[in-house]
Parts: sequence; C-alpha cells; structure tokens
Amino acid sequence: ADIDRFVRDLPKVELHVHLEGSMEPPILLDLAKKHGVDAVPSSLEGVREWYEFRDFPHFIEVYLTSVETLRDEADFAMLTSDVAARLAAQRVSYAELHVSLYAHLMRGVPAHVVFDGIEHARREAEQTHGIQLRWIPDFPGDYGVETGEQTLDAVLKDGPPSVVGFGVGSVEVSRAPFTDLFARARAAGLHSLPHAGENGGPERIVEALDLLHAERIGHGIDSMDDPALVERLRDAGVPLDVCPTSNVCTGAIERIEDHPLPRMLRAGLSVSLNSDDPPMFGTDLGNEYRVAHGLGLDVTELAALARNGVTASYLDEAGKRALL
Ligand code: ADE
Ligand code: ZN
Repeated sequence: ADIDRFVRDLPKVELHVHLEGSMEPPILLDLAKKHGVDAVPSSLEGVREWYEFRDFPHFIEVYLTSVETLRDEADFAMLTSDVAARLAAQRVSYAELHVSLYAHLMRGVPAHVVFDGIEHARREAEQTHGIQLRWIPDFPGDYGVETGEQTLDAVLKDGPPSVVGFGVGSVEVSRAPFTDLFARARAAGLHSLPHAGENGGPERIVEALDLLHAERIGHGIDSMDDPALVERLRDAGVPLDVCPTSNVCTGAIERIEDHPLPRMLRAGLSVSLNSDDPPMFGTDLGNEYRVAHGLGLDVTELAALARNGVTASYLDEAGKRALL
C-alpha cells in the first residue's frame, strides 16, 4: 500500500533502541547454544512463547536472561553488525543504541570486551552501510545507585568517543537517588538520557527533569496524566522517545488504540518514534510508523515524527541538515 512505501522511503533515525533487546531469535538461539545458557528456550517456537510478557517486571526478567547469552567480543560484534544491517535496510541512517552495560559487568564481562566488540562493528557498519551508530550505556535503576556508579566508572575508563549519553532503565524507581550520579555523567560531557514515565507515573518525569537534568525522556507517556507537566515539556521543548508497540507488549498501556501518541503530538510535544526492543515486541521502526498511522496520524504527522527524531538526536549540525 501507499503508506508502506511512504514509510519505507522516509529517511529515519532511531533514538531509542536497546542493542541487547534487538537480538533476533535465531541469534539468541545460536548464542545460547554456544555458551550453554539453559534458561533460554531452545526453539524458535519456544522463544515466541517466551516473548509473551505477563507484565513489565516479567519483561525485564526475560530481557536480562537473554542478555546472558552475550559473553565475548565476537558476540557483541556479531549482534551489532546484524542490528546495524537491519536498521540500514529500513533507511535508518543514524541510531543511538542503549547498551545494558551493567548487565554485562555484573556477570564479569569487562567493559572493554563490550566496547571493543560494538566499536569494531560500528566502524564496519559505517563503511558498509553508511549508517552512523552512537551508544547510550545504561544501568537498571532498581539495582541501586552503586550499580550506576560502577557503570559510569566503566564508561569513563573504557568508553569510546561514540558514547553520547548515559541512561537508566529497567523497573522504574524514583530517579532522586541518581542526582549526583547524573551530575557526574554530565560533567564528563555525557547527555542525560533516562527512561522516565514509561509506567512509573509523571513524578518520575519531573524528577528526571529537575534532578537528572534530562535532555530527552525515554518513553514519557505518563506525562499525559499531568497537564502542568505537559505544558512544561512543551514550553521547554524536551524531546520524548515514544515506543508504542513496546508499551502494549510490556503492559504499560492496555490496548494500542489507547496509546497517547496522537494526543502527545497534538499537545505540541516534541515526540519521536522508536522501537525499543524490536524482536522482543515483534516490531521494527518501520512498523512503528505504520502503527502510528493506524492510530490516525497522517503522512504529514509521520514526517514530523521523523524530523523530531533528527532534531532531538546528537548528530552534528551538518548531519541534521542533510536529513531535515
Ligand atoms: N530495558 C530494555 N527495554 C526497556 C524498557 N522498555 N524500559 C526500561 N528498561 C528497558
Ligand atoms: Zn527503552
């Protein structure tokens, strides 16, 4: 259909996608076999069932189990190459990928193993596909601030210049304990890019703004429950990374028809469209645009979402101009 062609040809960027959450099931099965990770199902059918999440904590549990299949530098390079090729095939020319760095550190995988693998693939993908990748290392907020400190220490010691920001994800807890941590990250030149208001309520977004000085909000859909916050986000032009299919699959919202994306856009918020953990949610970025169309957005609005992504990205000015 026309919309399929429009979405396919639309130049896109992706600002909210997790590297480890982008593992296609065949790769997951191969890695699980290679390293003997028994907690991962051993068939594609099994993985499909495994990806039916009861609720948000269950999703995080499955996510962290699948992450355990990544062990050596070659694993990280192979995953990154595959993800880059898939993005490039959808006409994505620039992507900022969350990297669950702490989930590797806690298993004894050193940061340099992760960075060496993903950097090798990043450089190669830029040559092969002309796609630019940037990294946002993050940690699970519910594991506590020390976890975040260790993650930031590792980034500052071993992180390459292609790290653009620092994030916090997983089960959403108060952002208040991370105030000093994010101040340290920002002082080191990293952008503050927390998840907030995915399912933790508008207060998490207020904390992210006031305490973490967030420069973009991961999800932020709960902002719609607080009109004063919507006004603040709009007036300050704070970009929000919205991921509609993710929100249904993790139970953040009940039905896709209820997704606040159209209301967010029409309230004047700077919303971009993103896929979060595409194979885990049976989606990809192109599909998110088709879903947004299904929610009633016309092609002008879809193009605005794509432009918002470019504007909210950490592409250099020339790179932005080429896409706007
Ligand atoms: N880690 C991977 N996907 C996530 C999400 N949607 N929210 C929080 N943490 C995540
Ligand atoms: Zn996310």
